[in-house]
Amino acid sequence: MNTTGNSFEQSTDGSWVDLSRFDNRWYCPGRGMFVRGLWYVISLLVFEGACVPCYAPKRWLLRLFGAKVGRGLVIKPRVWIKYPWRLAVGDHCWVGQGAWIDNLADVRLGSHVCVSQQVYICTGSHDYRKQTFDLITRPVEVANGAWLGAKALVIGGVTIGANAIVAAGSVVTRDVPVAAIVAGQPARPIGERRCRG
Ligand SMILES: CC(C)(COP(=O)(O)OP(=O)(O)OC[C@H]1O[C@@H](n2cnc3c(N)ncnc32)[C@H](O)[C@@H]1OP(=O)(O)O)[C@@H](O)C(=O)NCCC(=O)NCCS
Repeated sequence: MNTTGNSFEQSTDGSWVDLSRFDNRWYCPGRGMFVRGLWYVISLLVFEGACVPCYAPKRWLLRLFGAKVGRGLVIKPRVWIKYPWRLAVGDHCWVGQGAWIDNLADVRLGSHVCVSQQVYICTGSHDYRKQTFDLITRPVEVANGAWLGAKALVIGGVTIGANAIVAAGSVVTRDVPVAAIVAGQPARPIGERRCRG
């Protein structure tokens, strides 16, 4: 126990963490170095830039790298996908410009899901209670018909229910019920979605 009442060994610079002891060797990225390197380059050339405006080659490449991609995926320029082999997308989804699917753990998008511009799906975290700042990864699921508004941030471990709406700029830290409309930081229910047909 140190003077602050917790069990951290405080370092001389006052830090409660020692990042030099961070060890993520247990984490399995799901593919070897070569495939990850190849994806890195392809992602840079095809997905992260604006040179390839058409969607069919992107769908083909995602499938080639192990993503489960349904029909009709629209994927705009400047999209970051960490590991395609940890991505499943249903039919007729849209992924907007600047979206970032940081899928250290599985990300599943159902069918007719709209991921708007600059959404960040963040599956990684750290155990801040430990001096070693251990890596934590948790999956994210976005069910059929849900809409993530522009610049929404979804934290790992969350399920967005079918037809739910996450308002622009919201930070989702808890599951979102089916057809709920949530907003804010953290996102809280502000209404219920109704369908006019
Ligand atoms: C969530 C959304 C669909 C709600 O639209 P709406 O049903 O017309 O709702 P309103 O504008 O009437 O707002 C209802 C309430 O929610 C609040 N609200 C709406 N959007 C919000 C947001 N992004 N963050 C925080 N609160 C929000 C409003 O301030 C309002 O609060 P009040 O009742 O206290 O005045 C809309 O605000 C939104 O975020 N759209 C996403 C836009 C987008 O991402 N576009 C990308 C193009 S693909």
